Amino acid sequence: MRIPHGGVSPRELKFMGVSAGHFIDFSVNINPLGTSPSAMDAIARLDPSSYPDPDSGEIRRALARMTGVAPDQIVVGNGSTELIYLLAHTYLNKGDRAVILSPTFGEYEAACRLVVARIELIHSKEEDGFRWDAGGVGAACRKIDRLRPALIFLCNPNNPTGVFLERAAVAELAEAAGDGLLVLDEAYISFVESAWESTSLLGMGNLVILRSLTKDHALAGLRLGYALCPPAVADALVMGQPSWSVNAAAQAAGIASLADRAHLSRGLACASEGKRYLDGALRELGLKVTPSAANFLLVEVGDGAEVRRRLLHRGFGVRDCASFGLPRHIRIGARSVPECRRLVCALKKVLP
Ligand SMILES: Cc1ncc(COP(=O)(O)O)c(C=O)c1O
Repeated sequence: MRIPHGGVSPRELKFMGVSAGHFIDFSVNINPLGTSPSAMDAIARLDPSSYPDPDSGEIRRALARMTGVAPDQIVVGNGSTELIYLLAHTYLNKGDRAVILSPTFGEYEAACRLVVARIELIHSKEEDGFRWDAGGVGAACRKIDRLRPALIFLCNPNNPTGVFLERAAVAELAEAAGDGLLVLDEAYISFVESAWESTSLLGMGNLVILRSLTKDHALAGLRLGYALCPPAVADALVMGQPSWSVNAAAQAAGIASLADRAHLSRGLACASEGKRYLDGALRELGLKVTPSAANFLLVEVGDGAEVRRRLLHRGFGVRDCASFGLPRHIRIGARSVPECRRLVCALKKVLP
């Protein structure tokens, strides 16, 4: 099953009469400065005739140095999406319960459906600022406690709302998970200013942290993500993973990207300035913007699909949020301030 995501296909661009050179993509949430030049060099030096390291050894050691988590607790995947599917296949049997804190990234539900799990969505409401429980996560914890799910998916900061739960709330959810596993998807964690360090919760024994290099390091086309988890979970995930799943270009580019801290810092600063500008400018237009800790903004525009279509016609991609159950909203990924200015000008022209 194909899940709708951001990004615009070459076919749709052609259909809309937009040339790729004139298209600015705000529908994906990726480092606006693109891939690190050292990663590009590493790819250029690669010998594609050799098999990749099947253990992703060097990049796991680099991730271990960066996170302080032991290499035997790190599983590298073909994007964090592969790890989401591996988790579902490994920990859910037909009829098992899985809880998803929603609205959120669509691949959790798709992965759970594939293994015929019983899916329970815990929905947040717009009037609560898309937090799951206005006063904390107590109601969600009580539901988890009652349902005893094998897997719980929490995206933090959440896609598409940008809501970021604090450490105590995540610890409470892990506590409520009991013998189940809490999957904490931190695909956008690098973009959060003063984020708390979730690896300190790995000692609880039932937490899996998912991270991605496809957004902060702009490696979406190569596919690279990783899980930080208890050693037994790491072993079980690796058992289910196809050989050579993480290709040599992804490993080489990942190692070079992790070493290029300066490029990452510049990209994060650029996204942060762009988001601040957008947040102010969109509010000035009278639009309702959900406060976001991530590098994207959820904006209520009335008819998300129509506003997306009109913007695309003018060469701008934004994510229509109907597939999240939010048809009145669009999601805008932060880019440089000059690019964001151009988007705001276009928005002024297309808003009903
Ligand atoms: C919350 C979230 N998790 C995971 C992913 C998948 O990331 P990857 O490219 O590493 O598979 C995405 C991609 O959009 C996402 O938004």
